[in-house]
Parts: sequence; structure tokens; C-alpha cells
Amino acid sequence: MRSAIARAWGEVESLTLGDLPAPTPGPGQVLIDMKAASVNFADIVMTRGEYQTKPPFPFAPGLEGAGVVAAVGSGVTRVKPGQRVMAKLDWGGFAEHALAPALDTHVIPDSMPFDIAGSFYVGYVSSHVAIRWQGRLEPGETLLVLGASGGTGLTSVEIGKAMGARVIAGASSDDKLAVAKAHGADALVNYSDPAWKDKVQEITAGKGADVVFDPIGGDLFDPALSSLGWGGRYLVFGFVGGIPQIPANRLLVKHRSAMGSSLRYFRDHARDKLDASVQELLGWLAAGKLKPHVSARYPLAQFKDAMLELRERRAVGRVVVTIP
Ligand SMILES: NC(=O)c1ccc[n+]([C@@H]2O[C@H](COP(=O)([O-])OP(=O)(O)OC[C@H]3O[C@@H](n4cnc5c(N)ncnc54)[C@H](OP(=O)(O)O)[C@@H]3O)[C@@H](O)[C@H]2O)c1
Repeated sequence: MRSAIARAWGEVESLTLGDLPAPTPGPGQVLIDMKAASVNFADIVMTRGEYQTKPPFPFAPGLEGAGVVAAVGSGVTRVKPGQRVMAKLDWGGFAEHALAPALDTHVIPDSMPFDIAGSFYVGYVSSHVAIRWQGRLEPGETLLVLGASGGTGLTSVEIGKAMGARVIAGASSDDKLAVAKAHGADALVNYSDPAWKDKVQEITAGKGADVVFDPIGGDLFDPALSSLGWGGRYLVFGFVGGIPQIPANRLLVKHRSAMGSSLRYFRDHARDKLDASVQELLGWLAAGKLKPHVSARYPLAQFKDAMLELRERRAVGRVVVTIP
């Protein structure tokens, strides 16, 4: 099968396109004829050998996708051959065929195009799990989203609105903020302006945000923590800007909490809530409350260009690899 191939840890440029044997599903696994996969920042981190999962070489990156079930391994009753599905993969999405854990494979509605389904799961489900179950966002509360035009940021903006919150979108440029606004953000802050945390205070009349969704960390962490109000919840979600240290004194005084959220570990510990998240999201999609944003599509042969859009910080919403 045609596949992206990693033969050693390295940058995106070290990957090649070639042929690998098609995988066979083992117990609890599903073989998917892939139609679309989308790029996540973690694909770049995995390619470098810096992700929690380190696949054996040679492997294809690609943590999610959609297609048609080709075969199932023993014990799988959740899906059957011929069904259209989306799945969270351990790796292997940028290829003609991929293996998915059955528990991470979900049948999709007939009306859902493959490019939307292939770029739905990680962005929407991971953000939903964080905001609904960890952040416990309530209607009328204020959600501050960093990286608000990115793959998980833009979905968080929509999820916050669907949950009845007021959403403040933060991003590094006015163009990116315009995308967040088009997806429902109520207020915008450009954090390339060093005074951005003052603007959050202004927008919230000095109260601060109730929940912060942070996929970036790094230098943004400190001002974002200052933007969290009394009793606020800080969602530690990703580290594209670096891993921050949390000063405990700044949690104590304002009764703030900082909490991690990881789709990967959530699925191992709270399956019922994960499935509830998928169902709520598909319901919102059917009701027109979500508007999945695919900003670029690349054929499999150009998968590296797709990955570079994220690494070079150009990506808006989801970048999809289409598989003929
Ligand atoms: N915890 C979980 O369950 C989970 C699930 C999925 C992803 N993640 C993590 O969340 C993070 C974001 O993933 P994503 O797929 O949303 O990525 P993405 O689409 O690339 O978006 C990340 C955003 O971060 C901002 N950014 C700041 N510094 C950056 C840098 N040095 N390089 C690239 N972008 C930078 C960019 O927005 P501005 O230019 O506006 O700042 C960009 O839009 C990653 O660390 C990923 O591993 C966690």
C-alpha cells in the first residue's frame, strides 16, 4: 500500500512516500480503507521520537482518519466491514490502509463527508472532554481559548458556544482571530500585544475568565493564568510553546485549579464519558451547531506539505490529507 514512511526519528523532511505491506487486524482491531486523515501537532512530535508512543520502524504517522471498514479482528462487534467510520489511531493514518482500536472507531452518519469525519475526532472530542468533564464549563461562564484558530482551539470556541458560554478567543494575528469570530467567538484578544491580559480584564469587567483552554503553554501561560478569575479552572492541554511551571501560590489565593486533560488517557479511564462526548458532538453537528473548518486538503503524495502547515504555524482549523 502507498504510505508515508518514517524509518528513523527526525523532522517532517526526513519522511518519505513509499510502499509498506498492508496491516492485518489483530484482536480488538479494525482495518480501515482510508479516505481522509488529518494532521495533528502530535504527528510532528511523534515523528521526532518525542511523543509518549514510539512506534516500531518503519511506520506511518497520522493519528486520526476516516474511511470504510475493510476487516475486523477477533472479538470486534462494534463495527463491521463496509461501514463508514472515523477513528482515533495509534499511528498510521497517512496511508491507504490503517489499523484502529475498535473502541476508538465510531460509525459516522451517511451525510458526513470523509474529509470532515477524518478531521473531526481529535479536534472536537479532545476539546470536548477537556471542557465538559474537566473544566465543567457552565452556561453563562466565560471561556478563554488560546490558539483559537488552531486544530483544537477552533473546536473549543464552537464547543464553548454550544455549551452556552461566553467565549474569548486568543490568537497571534488578526487574520486568525477573524476565523475564530466567524466560528462564534464573542470577544477577541491578540496575544502578540504584550498588554493582552489587560484586555481580558477589560472584557470581563475585572472578573477574569472562568475556564482557560491552553494548548500552547510557554510564555503565554503566565498571562493566561493571570486572566483566570476566582474559582477558575485552567485546562493544561498542550505544549506547542513549551512546558510551563505552575506557581502554586497563584492557585491558592484565587481558589484556582489547574488540571490536565488528555484524550489518550481519558479513553483508558473514562470510556463512558468519552462515548457520551462523541454522541453529544454528533448531535450538535446534526443540529448545525458545529461548523468543521477544513482550511487545506493535500493528496497523500503531498502529506509532508500538510504536516509543514502546522509546524510552520500557518494552519487554520484542520489540514486534511486525502487518500484516493
Ligand atoms: N490533551 C489532549 O487531549 C490533546 C489533544 C490534541 C492535541 N493536543 C495538543 O494540543 C496542542 C495543539 O494541537 P493542535 O492540533 O491544536 O495544533 P495546531 O492546529 O497547530 O494549533 C496550535 C496553535 O498554537 C499556536 N502556536 C503557538 N506557538 C506555536 C508554535 N511554536 N508552533 C505552532 N503553533 C503555535 C498557533 O496559534 P497562534 O499563531 O494564534 O498562536 C496554532 O494555531 C499540541 O501540543 C497537541 O499535542 C492535546
